[in-house]
Amino acid sequence: MQTLENKSILLIISGGIAAYKSLELIRLIRKSGGNVRCILTKGGEQFVTPLSVSALSEQHVYTDLWSLKDETEMGHIRLSREADLIVIAPASANLLAQMANGLAQDLASTTLLAADKPILIAPAMNHQMWDNPATQKNLKTLETRGIKQVGPTKGDMACGEHGMGRMAEPEDIMNAINSFFFERPLSGYSALISSGPTVEPLDPGRFIGNRSSGKQGRAIAAALSSAGANVTLVTGPVALTDPAGVNTIHVETATQMLAACESAIETDPKLDIAICAAAVSDWRAKDAQDQKIKKRDGETAPTISFTENPDILRAIANHKHRPTLVVGFAAETENLLDNAKAKLSRKGCDWVLANDVSAAQDNQKVFGADENHVYLINENGVDDWGKSSKTAIAIKLAEHIAQHLQQDEQKHAAE
Ligand code: C5P
Repeated sequence: MQTLENKSILLIISGGIAAYKSLELIRLIRKSGGNVRCILTKGGEQFVTPLSVSALSEQHVYTDLWSLKDETEMGHIRLSREADLIVIAPASANLLAQMANGLAQDLASTTLLAADKPILIAPAMNHQMWDNPATQKNLKTLETRGIKQVGPTKGDMACGEHGMGRMAEPEDIMNAINSFFFERPLSGYSALISSGPTVEPLDPGRFIGNRSSGKQGRAIAAALSSAGANVTLVTGPVALTDPAGVNTIHVETATQMLAACESAIETDPKLDIAICAAAVSDWRAKDAQDQKIKKRDGETAPTISFTENPDILRAIANHKHRPTLVVGFAAETENLLDNAKAKLSRKGCDWVLANDVSAAQDNQKVFGADENHVYLINENGVDDWGKSSKTAIAIKLAEHIAQHLQQDEQKHAAE
């Protein structure tokens, strides 16, 4: 797996509630072997302390342009010279405005004006500030100067409002950092991913659902996007933020999920990759009620009749615009490998990623957990990928897919 060993990142943390997420980003960069030195603006200091930043980065934290100590030890010029990449997370509307207008008012803006290194911004602000034409103009200006951006995403904001402006999650910023240093082998490819559970209504308030957290599908969408692919993620209801840079479509039922997937295929009939990671409910209530099903004294419990839901994986694998590579998941409680192999032909997909969700494996720890043990099954046999984090599985899958598609293209070119 690729690491950030021998890579130095200068992380600028400006003022915004999202600054707390930058502490996690520092941890992720360090975990990946990277060196991270931080500048904390006066605004940033209102949200995280120099002590926590320094404890996590294990380095002195730079805060003041005019500090004699900071300038003698490490001038603002050297701060950027010694970095391979400058990351600003969170990038406040104010700091973006300073950058766009070439202001040098404090250590962060002065270092940025004097920088000779690539810059990645992770904007974070209230949605009105984001939508403001002044901010949008500044972002355009920065884009034309080659400054790269990750996020923001849409969602609930710390101020209680809802909209565009949430900072990308630390894992997504890490993916964007990795894209700077490593080849993007899926550039030019497009992918469709189904993820999360589906929920099937019984009445306006009740539904049938399952324990899927959507973490594996989200990690796959993020990994493919960071490898350069153009990704559409169709997800059932999950408690996760949308991955930055991914076209995310929210659905509830299996019928809606199928419609969203088919519409993605119709929109892009040359789709290269489809990965069905969703835990689709196999059945839905035949007659979902418009009114709440009432419990009445003396009445027997209601009987619910079910009807089968569409099989989305099978529909994609047999679609007239079938993507080149179709990957399914198999969550089995018994005979894992045999059932998974049978699924390959039954569904018509190319690969199956199988994982054991039996009680022996403690299924509470698969659904919603951060780790998984998977096996890749295809025409070549079974490959045990061992137990690793869902993020690591997603990155490995992206690498395998890139290799497979490139070999496939070479084979076709030779024919
Ligand atoms: O049919 P089964 O649940 O065993 O197969 C699992 C695989 O099929 C997963 O990839 C899942 O996303 C997909 N699936 C689907 N639509 C269904 C049922 C399963 O896409 N209705």
